[in-house]
Amino acid sequence: MGKIAFEQNQHPKQKPDQSKLGFGKHFTDHMFIMDYTDGKGWHDARIVPYAPIALEPSSMVFHYGQAVFEGLKAYKTSDNEILLFRPDKNMERLNKSNDRLSIPAIDEEFMIEAIKELVRVDADWIPVEEGTSLYIRPFIIATEPFLGVHASHNYMFIVILSPVGAYYAEGIQPVKINVESHYVRAVRGGMGSAKTAGNYAASLRAQVEAQESGYSQVLWLDGIEKKYIEEVGSMNVFFKVNGEVLTPELNGSILDGVTRNSIIALLKSWNVPVVERRVSIEELFEAHANGTLEEAFGTGTAAVISPIGELNWDDKNIVINEGNIGELSQRLYDTVTGIQRGTLADTLGWTVKV
Ligand code: COI
Repeated sequence: MGKIAFEQNQHPKQKPDQSKLGFGKHFTDHMFIMDYTDGKGWHDARIVPYAPIALEPSSMVFHYGQAVFEGLKAYKTSDNEILLFRPDKNMERLNKSNDRLSIPAIDEEFMIEAIKELVRVDADWIPVEEGTSLYIRPFIIATEPFLGVHASHNYMFIVILSPVGAYYAEGIQPVKINVESHYVRAVRGGMGSAKTAGNYAASLRAQVEAQESGYSQVLWLDGIEKKYIEEVGSMNVFFKVNGEVLTPELNGSILDGVTRNSIIALLKSWNVPVVERRVSIEELFEAHANGTLEEAFGTGTAAVISPIGELNWDDKNIVINEGNIGELSQRLYDTVTGIQRGTLADTLGWTVKV
């Protein structure tokens, strides 16, 4: 792999207004690319101007979906330091996703250095307004021009950067969620625990239908019994019931979220009881009926914490915490974003200086 070549963008773009970023709409001036060729391994690591890439229409990714990705964020502190949040976890998970999709492993340490280098090159693009960050999107696609079904012999690893604001238009305001009882996101033994493009394609129909009915997202149930809660939208999910925090245990069809992992660690460090186990939708509605369902929220890199204000399951509708963000959800949001931005002490050693 060796050194990273660099080509400066001679036509830098105008930077967007930080108060109107939205999510994933703007891209910086440079990107990282590295190729994989059978027999040669990963090679030709380079940082080049952000631009369209040319691919054969027969590239395998277009036909059989052999694609994996990650998402992490960079922040600028008030001292102008740049921090990444747990990039080692993202690179470790990328290799797990690679393994599931028969994509050759990447050198995790090298990729953390490459991401740091790319972020340094486009450091002026890191927004500093409250609620903003630089979203980093590493992804790998199969590029062999071939229509037979097998694991590709060639790949491209690309990293692009996007200055972002809130993921949901609602920001940290609670969202309305529909419990999905027809479609499923993933099944055990499938690809649910890998961060692969196909999982997100599988989720779109349910999301469209939920939005048509006035909901922001769906709550996914397990793909076998349609009984146990798995994820919410593209996020992991947590519930506070009677003082205890519950989250579905990782079972092969749930993504091992970096924010999920961080929330569990924070709760443990605060001595708040947190349990990873199967949680049925029925149990949750019963908890609401007897007044013990206190808070519900999704967790992910993009939104950090997204409170659930209302849940609809077939003809039953419940409002959680009167539709307001819960005290614990707010504390978790403030703590995670405070650590990420360097305004709170990083007691668990999660941030990495660029
Ligand atoms: C996240 O919550 O970080 C996600 O995975 C959402 C992403 C697909 C935009």
